Amino acid sequence: MTLHLAPERLPEFARGLPKAELHIHIEGSLEPELIFALAQRNAVTIPYPDVASLRAAYAFSNLQSFLDIYYAGASVLRTEQDFHDMAWAYFLRAHTDHITRAELFFDPQTHTERGVAFASVIDGLRRACARARSELGIEAELILCFLRHLSEEAAFATLEEARPHLGKFIGVGLDSSEVGHPPEKFARVFADARRLGLRAVAHAGEEGPPAYVWSALDVLKVERIDHGVQSLKDPALVRRLVEQRIPLTVCPLSNLKLCVFDDLRAHNLKRMLELGVVATVNSDDPAYFGGYLNRNFEACVEALPLSAQDLVTLARNSFDASFASPQEKRMQREGVDAFVARFAQG
Ligand code: HPA
Ligand code: ZN
Repeated sequence: MTLHLAPERLPEFARGLPKAELHIHIEGSLEPELIFALAQRNAVTIPYPDVASLRAAYAFSNLQSFLDIYYAGASVLRTEQDFHDMAWAYFLRAHTDHITRAELFFDPQTHTERGVAFASVIDGLRRACARARSELGIEAELILCFLRHLSEEAAFATLEEARPHLGKFIGVGLDSSEVGHPPEKFARVFADARRLGLRAVAHAGEEGPPAYVWSALDVLKVERIDHGVQSLKDPALVRRLVEQRIPLTVCPLSNLKLCVFDDLRAHNLKRMLELGVVATVNSDDPAYFGGYLNRNFEACVEALPLSAQDLVTLARNSFDASFASPQEKRMQREGVDAFVARFAQG
């Protein structure tokens, strides 16, 4: 059954759809208010006098200009409780956006380099994930990201530190400065991670070329591509993504804020859906990019000719592309279908 909705009902429909968020850096959910609260709690000084001046600094020209401020913001995180509080604030926000599954990226190197124990990071995050399941009904998992601007040796050391905690995260990813740090740099680390039974994803084709998407697939053997928006420059790559149903975790407001696209109306999300790419919508770093997941959906509905059917496809894709068990995927898809049926009636 194809659902047709009047354009004015699309934002409400998009907001209410149950969805998974698969591309959210938990450190990127740290709101300026919480940065200041944690700075005070931990007696850390930050180079901004107040919340307003920090927020005013969120004007980015590219990925690196964002990363510089993002790492500065994360420097207020010190204790297990801090990591719990950050993730719990995200889950409360996610719940209002009808997120029923979240796979959170975290960057342990950003913290361990400052002397924070790996256990404080992961145990605080896990405690929030357990609460999200029991108090909000959100299925939540963690994906450990290696910082690609650091060395292969540092990534190996991080994987080694993570080994005693293997049951606490489901996979590995690759983030931070893309251009000049191709996936090949981490081929051996990802091979070891996969041997440990971990799932693998990587940022590729955000600012970097389609060649980085190819090598994320062929060298790192990832199961999803984070961003991947540059893939559409390469028709052979698009064929591969479509034929093998390799998902892209697209982050529209992030792309806008980091000047990957000048205008959301020029974004290629709709084109991806037309081509049959398994695209999903995500918030990336919502505290920095002007909105959580539903704000991304609303902005796309405003800027792009997305139909109700496209929105259903995006919601379904989010669960299909997730690392949920087959039983959970079935249950989550039923949640989407039930919402669509209710909405169609009333
Ligand atoms: N790209 C790369 N690294 C990141 C991002 C991103 O969008 N957000 C947080 N770390
Ligand atoms: Zn990202």
